Amino acid sequence: MIAVVGATGHVGGEVVAQLAATGVPVRALTRRPDGWTGPAVEVADVAAFGAFAGARAAFLMTAEPIVPGGRPEVLGSLVRAAVDAGVEQLVLLSVFSGSAGDDVLGYWNAACETLVVDSGVPWTLLRPGRFFSNALAWARFVGDGSVPVGFARRAAAGIDPADVAAVAVRGLTGDLVGAAPRLTGPESLTPLEELRVLGEVLGRPLTACEIDPDAVARGMLAGGTAPEVVDAVVARTLHDDEGAEPLPAVRTLLGREPRRFADWARAHATAFATPAD
Ligand SMILES: NC(=O)c1ccc[n+]([C@@H]2O[C@H](COP(=O)([O-])OP(=O)(O)OC[C@H]3O[C@@H](n4cnc5c(N)ncnc54)[C@H](OP(=O)(O)O)[C@@H]3O)[C@@H](O)[C@H]2O)c1
Repeated sequence: MIAVVGATGHVGGEVVAQLAATGVPVRALTRRPDGWTGPAVEVADVAAFGAFAGARAAFLMTAEPIVPGGRPEVLGSLVRAAVDAGVEQLVLLSVFSGSAGDDVLGYWNAACETLVVDSGVPWTLLRPGRFFSNALAWARFVGDGSVPVGFARRAAAGIDPADVAAVAVRGLTGDLVGAAPRLTGPESLTPLEELRVLGEVLGRPLTACEIDPDAVARGMLAGGTAPEVVDAVVARTLHDDEGAEPLPAVRTLLGREPRRFADWARAHATAFATPAD
């Protein structure tokens, strides 16, 4: 059996679906087992004692951190629970930059990767670029036709979370022990270009309303993100070109091309439906 943390999320949800589709026994871990609407698999509370009991392998992730120290603390308890349960294979959803960077994000990411690497359990680290699913933040504005877009001209070779999940599934079968692949999609697009593609897929013109970085920062602060996290996110996004160029890892590991943003948009078009649709 394979335990999947973040099972209701963009990547974890795909990991559950892909494993279940091939008949692999799965335990979906969530904070709200009662609200599960995914495939017919075993579901358990991620924080419950025994959440990893009987699991051969585990997919681990933490949600976006909103308080300093939160991310390694949360992951530390997940790793301990998995190790104590005798899990034999760990796959961590990390970030493109891995442990690099001397800001708070670099510290957290390094601490998280180290927790897994030093766990004594065979591991795989996944280092994906920007997720296509970030575009879901645009859904509530699509009806207006005018969509606020932050960091609108920063290009990234974004990736479909389903492709990240497909690589995770390989890691969970013990195929990528000790590997830390950097995962991107097949093309470099700015958010402005992604919005244009989304409009074409939805068949409606979408106009970008560009948000300047100060306004993005104010929005993050208002949402409760710690100031040092806001500073690090803004500085990295403005000054760091990592992840802008497509890399071959997904094609090499999966034996097929990674999905394009347009593929993702078509598959998720219903998420952008408006009351008028
Ligand atoms: N977005 C990107 O562009 C990007 C790029 C590279 C790497 N990453 C990394 O990928 C991870 C996010 O993956 P994802 O998009 O699959 O996750 P996600 O969909 O945002 O969240 C996964 C699950 O985590 C739980 N969760 C959400 N907020 C939480 C909170 N505050 N505290 C505890 N649990 C919470 C929720 O599950 P339940 O409610 O069911 O418990 C949620 O379904 C992060 O570690 C991020 O750094 C993201």
